[in-house]
Amino acid sequence: MRAVAVSALGAEPSLVVVPKPDPSAGEVRVKVEYASLNPLDWQTADGAPDGTAPHSFPLLVGTDFAGRVDMIGGGDNLFRVGDPVFGRLTAPPAGRCGAYGEYLCVAQDAPIALVPDGLPLQHAAALPSAGTAAAQILGGTAVRDGRSLLVIGAAGGVGSFLTQLAAARSLGVVAAVRGDEKRRMAALGAAATVDTTAGPDELASAVADLYPEGVDALVDLVSTDPAAFAAHTALVRDGGVAVTTRGVPGPPGIAWVDFRLDPADSGGELLGALAEGAARGELRVPIEVELPLEKAPQALAQNRAGGARGKTVFVV
Ligand SMILES: NC(=O)c1ccc[n+]([C@@H]2O[C@H](COP(=O)([O-])OP(=O)(O)OC[C@H]3O[C@@H](n4cnc5c(N)ncnc54)[C@H](OP(=O)(O)O)[C@@H]3O)[C@@H](O)[C@H]2O)c1
Repeated sequence: MRAVAVSALGAEPSLVVVPKPDPSAGEVRVKVEYASLNPLDWQTADGAPDGTAPHSFPLLVGTDFAGRVDMIGGGDNLFRVGDPVFGRLTAPPAGRCGAYGEYLCVAQDAPIALVPDGLPLQHAAALPSAGTAAAQILGGTAVRDGRSLLVIGAAGGVGSFLTQLAAARSLGVVAAVRGDEKRRMAALGAAATVDTTAGPDELASAVADLYPEGVDALVDLVSTDPAAFAAHTALVRDGGVAVTTRGVPGPPGIAWVDFRLDPADSGGELLGALAEGAARGELRVPIEVELPLEKAPQALAQNRAGGARGKTVFVV
C-alpha cells in the first residue's frame, strides 16, 4: 500500500510502498479515505516530545483519519466491516501505523467513533486532534470559568475549533492572528480579531479597549519562547489563567497550564459528540485545503514553515 513515511527521526517524509498491516486482537483495520494534517505529524517524525518515546521504522506519518472498517481482528467487536469510522492514532510505538496511508490498524477502544449520518468523511477526518484539543482546553481547564478568552494562533486548526466552541459558550474571543483574517474569525464567532504583525502594542491596546482589566483566559497555541508566552500572559487579568499547548514554562505569579491531550479520554465519546455537532451544523469544520496524498510531504513542510489556515485534508 502507499503511505507517507520517514526512515529516521528528522528525515524528510516521502511517499513509499509498505505492506498492508494486519489487525491484532482488539483492533480493526481501516481503509483510509481521508487524513488531516496536524503539526503533531511532523513533530512526531522529528522525535517529539524528546526522541525517547518508542518509534517504529519506517515511521508511518499521520494521526487523524476517516475511512471504512475493512477487517476486524479477534476479540469483542464494537464495529462491523463497512462501518464509516474516524479517529486518531495514539498507541505506541509511534509510526507503526499512520493516517497518511491506505490502510491502518487501530484498537477498537482508541479514540475512534462512527461517522454520523450527514457528516462527510473528509469533515470527520479534520476533527479528531484539533477538535479534541479545543474541547479539552475548554472543558478541562479554568478557561471554562471565564467570560473572555485571548487565543494566540486562532486561525489554525485548534484555534478555529476553540474560537467556535468558546463563542458557543458566550465567551468573548479575541483572536490573535497574522494577516487580515477578520472576516474568517468573525464567521467563527470571534468578538475581535487582531493582526499580530502590527506589533505587540496593537494586541495590548485591542485587549485593553475590550477588557481594561485583562482577559479572563489566554490560550497560546504559538509561543515556544518563554518570554513571548510571558508577554501574552501580561494581558490576563489578576486571578485569570493562561494555557500553552507548546510546552513552555509560564512566568511566576500567574496560574498557567501546560496543556496535553488527555490520554484518559481514550474512547470515542468526545469525538462522537464533536461529530454530531458538526453533522447538525453547529460546529463548522474549517477545511481550507484538500490535496492528494502525494502532496503530503510538501504540505508538511509548508505547515512547519507556518501560514496554516483551518485544516488541510488529504484524499488517500
Ligand atoms: N500539547 C498538545 O497536546 C497539543 C494538542 C494540539 C495542538 N498542539 C500544538 O498546538 C499548536 C497549534 O496547533 P494547530 O493544529 O492549531 O496548528 P496549525 O493548524 O498549524 O495553526 C497554527 C496557527 O498559528 C498561527 N501563528 C503562528 N505564529 C503566530 C503569531 N505570532 N501570531 C498569531 N498567529 C500565529 C499560524 O499562522 P501564521 O504562521 O500565518 O501566523 C497558524 O494559523 C501546534 O504546535 C500543535 O502541535 C499541542
